[in-house]
Amino acid sequence: MAVKILGTGGYLPPRVVTNDELAKSLDTSDEWIFSHSGIHSRHIAGPDDNTSSMAVKAGRAALEAAGVDASEIDMIVTATCSGDYLLPSTASLVQRDLGCTKAFAFDLAAACSGFVYSLETARGYITLHPDAKVLVIGAETLSRITDWNDRSSCILFGDGAGAVVVGGCADDPGNVCHTYLKTDGTDYRVLLREGGTRAREEGSAAPSTLLQMAGRSVFQFAVKVMPHVVELLCADAGIPSSDIDLFIPHQANIRIIDSAAKRLGIDRERVFVNIETVANTSGASIPLAINEAVRSGRLKDGMDVCFVGFGAGLTYGGVLTRWPYL
Ligand code: ACO
Repeated sequence: MAVKILGTGGYLPPRVVTNDELAKSLDTSDEWIFSHSGIHSRHIAGPDDNTSSMAVKAGRAALEAAGVDASEIDMIVTATCSGDYLLPSTASLVQRDLGCTKAFAFDLAAACSGFVYSLETARGYITLHPDAKVLVIGAETLSRITDWNDRSSCILFGDGAGAVVVGGCADDPGNVCHTYLKTDGTDYRVLLREGGTRAREEGSAAPSTLLQMAGRSVFQFAVKVMPHVVELLCADAGIPSSDIDLFIPHQANIRIIDSAAKRLGIDRERVFVNIETVANTSGASIPLAINEAVRSGRLKDGMDVCFVGFGAGLTYGGVLTRWPYL
């Protein structure tokens, strides 16, 4: 029995905000943002978009591509750090709105690594329950937790959702999937969103509900762990990193992606990049990229593909596999 990705889907809200538009209300420029991040524009949720509504649109597209009915889904995992409510989970709303009548559903909180953590969760569940079908979604409305007065962080983020349907199949592709997941909570404060239940320290300011980021520290962490994860996965698979057919990294910053690809000996044509127009959509970043790669024909059956994420926590991890198996 093998575990397989049966279909992919994605949704980006129609409103596009360019760097030039941001520069009208912020002390920044298209030149600075593009040269420091590779971002030119991002999609921003409109008044009718929520994390759950975008997740539903991406999920529906993935179900259609997989030829699976919503009523066949057993489990829904929604990777998000910008859910509709603190309680209940965004996955509960997705379960209701998609009509996944027999599914149990929950959110997974691992920020930009959420999709790779969720994929491994789905793989584990299907290994235990071979007839099950799982809907894995990464969905974010980061624009509503972004500090639009902080020019060093707000320029990076965008909104959207990506999804995959995972299920078992009778094929025998062999041992093709290698996974590495890790968390190092030591420097958890470098990416922080307060507003939870932690008691306030005496004299401290009221908690902010906006994302706070020490960009330089995150950058240094990412440049180190992204190639490290790929090297570990390749060592496990017994292949050189230069043999990877398509590298799909978390779309956080083109300088981080280029630095990892250079160290790994993966040429630019084999690196999937959509950051220029999609920006950093955290948990949605990798599934949106996978969906675009599949639908544009860049990701084909039999390719050795590697996904790597990193983010708040600090979480990181990756999957190296032979598409579309897990
Ligand atoms: N426009 C113009 N100038 C700016 C801007 C801006 N938008 N932002 C910062 N600057 C200025 C700074 O004020 C600073 O000026 P100074 O030298 O006079 O003090 C100068 O540019 C350099 O600032 P740095 O922060 O050192 O710039 P850096 O080259 O590190 O780029 C960036 C900043 C793009 C944020 C980068 O550090 C980065 O991408 N970090 C990683 C972020 C990330 O990947 N986060 C992912 C997690 S998100 C999640 O998990 C939800």
